[in-house]
Amino acid sequence: MEMINNWIWQSFDELDSTNNQALEWSKSAVSGQRCVITAKKQTAGRGRRGRQWIGGEGNLFMSLVFEAAPCDLSKFVFVSSLALFQTIVVFRKQDDILLELKWPNDVLLNGAKVSGILLEKGDGDFLISGIGVNLAFAPVLDSLVYPAISLKDVGIQTDCKTFLKEFLRQWNMILDLWHDYGFQRVLDIWLEHAKSLGQEIVVKNENKTLKGVFTGIDENGALLLSQNGSLVKILAGDVFFNEE
Ligand code: BTN
Repeated sequence: MEMINNWIWQSFDELDSTNNQALEWSKSAVSGQRCVITAKKQTAGRGRRGRQWIGGEGNLFMSLVFEAAPCDLSKFVFVSSLALFQTIVVFRKQDDILLELKWPNDVLLNGAKVSGILLEKGDGDFLISGIGVNLAFAPVLDSLVYPAISLKDVGIQTDCKTFLKEFLRQWNMILDLWHDYGFQRVLDIWLEHAKSLGQEIVVKNENKTLKGVFTGIDENGALLLSQNGSLVKILAGDVFFNEE
């Protein structure tokens, strides 16, 4: 059993979805253990809101399984995206690469989506954070709601294991910060890198399109949109920026 930064690491050549394997692992996991599952290829990767996630070789597909209160699920969306953001900062050589965070869980590289995060409940007290990172290629999909990009597209060359190791180091540091100073500290750092904070954005979900000023995120991870002086809390949706 290989360990990376205090995580059990299980790697597979091919899986339907690393999140499914993570759920299986959680069924026989022992309290105190945490595990990261990776696959070189995914044949039935899941995205948010019922979308699919393209699983070809070269990109990173991983699921972290860890113990946490189910009510903290949405908080781990921010931990995951901030850890990804900080990992890419470490690998970024040129400062001309623009990195931003987009609510609820996207990392934008030069304005395009470089990763995806899907939080799910595991067995018992375990949560699963499933993360896909476009290391080598940006999938092209008709139904892709947002333009995609890869790290390779901007000249960042890395392999799955090197990226994973740094990512887990960043994750552990963020959890220490949360533990020592409270979750608001994590959110504050996230917001420092958020795209269009204080500016007008559009949020779309199944039945509505809302326009307003992005004023912040509440303690439960809901997006706060100010519309004609009143504050609207949004729990789920896709954010679009004014220039799009
Ligand atoms: C999104 O829609 O942006 C979320 C995509 C999440 C994809 C990752 S890849 C690893 C893990 N396994 C899955 O089936 N999905 C997540």
